[in-house]
Amino acid sequence: MRAVQVRAPASLDTLTPTDLPDPGNPGPGEIRVRLAASSLNYHDFAVVTGMIPAADGRIPMSDGAGQVEAVGEGVTGFKPGDLVVSLFFPDWNDGAPPTSAFTRVPGDGIDGYAREVVVTPEHWFTHAPRGYSAAEAATLTCAGLTAWRALFVDGATQPGSTVLVQGTGGVSVFALQFAKAAGARVIATSSSDAKLDRMKALGADELINYREVPAWGVKALELTGGRGVDTVVEIGGAGTLDQSMIATRVGGHVALIGVLAGFAGPVQTALLMAKNLRVQGLTVGSRKQQLDMIAGIEANRIKPVLDRHFPLEKLADAFRHQASNTHFGKIIVEI
Ligand SMILES: NC(=O)c1ccc[n+]([C@@H]2O[C@H](COP(=O)([O-])OP(=O)(O)OC[C@H]3O[C@@H](n4cnc5c(N)ncnc54)[C@H](OP(=O)(O)O)[C@@H]3O)[C@@H](O)[C@H]2O)c1
Repeated sequence: MRAVQVRAPASLDTLTPTDLPDPGNPGPGEIRVRLAASSLNYHDFAVVTGMIPAADGRIPMSDGAGQVEAVGEGVTGFKPGDLVVSLFFPDWNDGAPPTSAFTRVPGDGIDGYAREVVVTPEHWFTHAPRGYSAAEAATLTCAGLTAWRALFVDGATQPGSTVLVQGTGGVSVFALQFAKAAGARVIATSSSDAKLDRMKALGADELINYREVPAWGVKALELTGGRGVDTVVEIGGAGTLDQSMIATRVGGHVALIGVLAGFAGPVQTALLMAKNLRVQGLTVGSRKQQLDMIAGIEANRIKPVLDRHFPLEKLADAFRHQASNTHFGKIIVEI
């Protein structure tokens, strides 16, 4: 089977396709999936460029979707022909986050889905939403579920809530779509007016260019009549947290998802305390949360926003496109 492996020292130039042995037939409790698509996340970029150290030969990509080809003895949840989508934490069924950190995450601690075929325990996948293509399903594993958890598991987004989403990457576009489906008002920020126009077309109520308005937290406060937003989808981290806390209402919630604008830095602890804020870190979600998200997607007929598609053989080019920051929504890999 064709696959892509990360070779030490990791870099986009060493990310080359190769032939690996077919994994064979599924054993008891296992399924064999012919993967048709994956999608890019910043986490995958960190693995393939060596920011996150990975074993030599690691198959990257946490997201995978495709058709079940065969099921092993005792498998009850799937049948051949089913379209399925992978889990970011294959062993996290429900309840508190796993203590295994990223050691059991496909494409990081274990091999991922930049390959044609995989045989796994059946609980490593869920059914894809009805009516989805494999490319659409492959966007859900990391970005979709993270946005869902931020808004509806850690947050309490509901009709009339106000949500601020930062930037126009995979997580933030999903957060906009989910928040609008829940009846929330959305303030979108971006470095690009053209991307803000696209956020507006997807339903964003207020737009802020964070390059032109560095004090965008103050602007968000104004846009909410001084009250502040209920939840910020924080993908910047240290470099944006100040403005996020300013933007958030008393008793509100900052979902700390990404650290694109800095890993560490000073925190306005007095503001955090005075506003009774909850800044909650999160890493994707559980199988139970993925199933809830898929039910929500089906009920609201939500489709992901797909950016460019690249063949598996051109995975390095897909990451170069991601690094150019010209994308909007999810970059797809066709396998
Ligand atoms: N904790 C988790 O479970 C989890 C899960 C998924 C992703 N993440 C993290 O979340 C972040 C976003 O992931 P992604 O997959 O959505 O990335 P992505 O698709 O590559 O999108 C990145 C977007 O972030 C925006 N951005 C960059 N710097 C910004 C800043 N200073 N202020 C506001 N926006 C900024 C840019 O939007 P504009 O071009 O519009 O400015 C850019 O398009 C990454 O750090 C990723 O590692 C974490």
